Amino acid sequence: MYEGKDHAQDEPKLLGCLENELGVREFVESHGYELVSTADKDPVGSSEVDQHLEDVEIMITTPFFPAYITRERIASAPNLKLCVTAGVGSDHVDLDAANERKITVAEVTGSNVVSVAEHVMMTILNLVRNFVPAHEQAVSGGWDIAAVAKDTYDLEDKVVATVGAGRIGYRVLERLVAFNPKKLLYFDYQDLPQAAVDKLNAASKLFNNKDNIVERVEKLEDMLGQADVVTINCPLHEGSKGLFNKKTISHMKDGAWLVNTARGAICVEQDVADAVELGKLRGYGGDVWYPQPAPDNHPWRTFRNKYGGGNAMTPHVSGTSLDAQARYAAGVEEILTQYFDKTYNYAPQNVIVIDGDYATKAYGQREKK
Ligand code: NAI
Repeated sequence: MYEGKDHAQDEPKLLGCLENELGVREFVESHGYELVSTADKDPVGSSEVDQHLEDVEIMITTPFFPAYITRERIASAPNLKLCVTAGVGSDHVDLDAANERKITVAEVTGSNVVSVAEHVMMTILNLVRNFVPAHEQAVSGGWDIAAVAKDTYDLEDKVVATVGAGRIGYRVLERLVAFNPKKLLYFDYQDLPQAAVDKLNAASKLFNNKDNIVERVEKLEDMLGQADVVTINCPLHEGSKGLFNKKTISHMKDGAWLVNTARGAICVEQDVADAVELGKLRGYGGDVWYPQPAPDNHPWRTFRNKYGGGNAMTPHVSGTSLDAQARYAAGVEEILTQYFDKTYNYAPQNVIVIDGDYATKAYGQREKK
């Protein structure tokens, strides 16, 4: 867990930090287990996490400050049975290695999807409205309207596209309808349920008097060529790692905006930074990086477009609002309850891998699942 320091005392609802331990210490100890909490997770092989691998039976990690549960670590943890992700997104666990050992990987699916969808909306608006340079001017004492206005647009009447239309992607589409877009597009190997499409279309008709606002696009390149804004909302797996590279970005419209709150490694970091610096993209924003914490010299800390804007990065915070923390802390306790009680009756949507196989269709297309 990340260190809470003084903030842990300032705000007891900050459950996801080292000091507050998701509020599970008493619960865990009451079941006869020892709870070891640490922020010392790197480097793999010599951190405190590694010192406990021989004994550990349950590993609780968080995507915001991930202890990467690599194949090497799994091999050094003979008693490991359950990995619990406090949040959503379990790509920091080597899922194939977990499967080989029949380790269960579970997360608190849905716990922070609204939080992320709101952050996506904030980031899209931030980029399109050119907020950061305007804010920097406001607090530094300047008043140069032209400098900001020359790179500021309206979201209305733009084509917005999502890569992945699951819980977060769909919630982003729902929220976008209110901004009267020209079109909403999605690329996903799973269809949105018809009822979900109908709901978006009905809302668009009601608010904007526009029919058939949402469309599925079969080929990613075709979607990218149409979109003014692209938002990435799919998990990181072998089929999405490095998906947004120089070549993919070349299919995007000139001057488009790209938002990624899914996982940093879905984008090739230097290719994205170059695309903004060289003017192919007008901006990039999001909250996910690889690795985390990001090194000080990570190119996403410093890229800017030619007008000094176009960077809407934050540290990995979107899914960890205090509201979300309450939900995923409760969800972790629920998963632990099933394990301690030996019912293993986990909510199906929370299970990523179990009994040596993927239990979800979201982590790539596979023969079995
Ligand atoms: P979900 O499982 O509800 O939806 C994911 C969707 O992506 C599925 O419909 C799946 O078919 C689709 N998909 C998978 N691979 C794809 C690909 N290569 N191209 C297009 N679509 C693809 O997951 P949910 O809850 O919407 O979360 C998505 C991801 O967002 C998580 O896996 C996690 O990585 C990230 N996330 C980030 C958070 C943050 O704090 N920044 C918090 C929560 C999730």
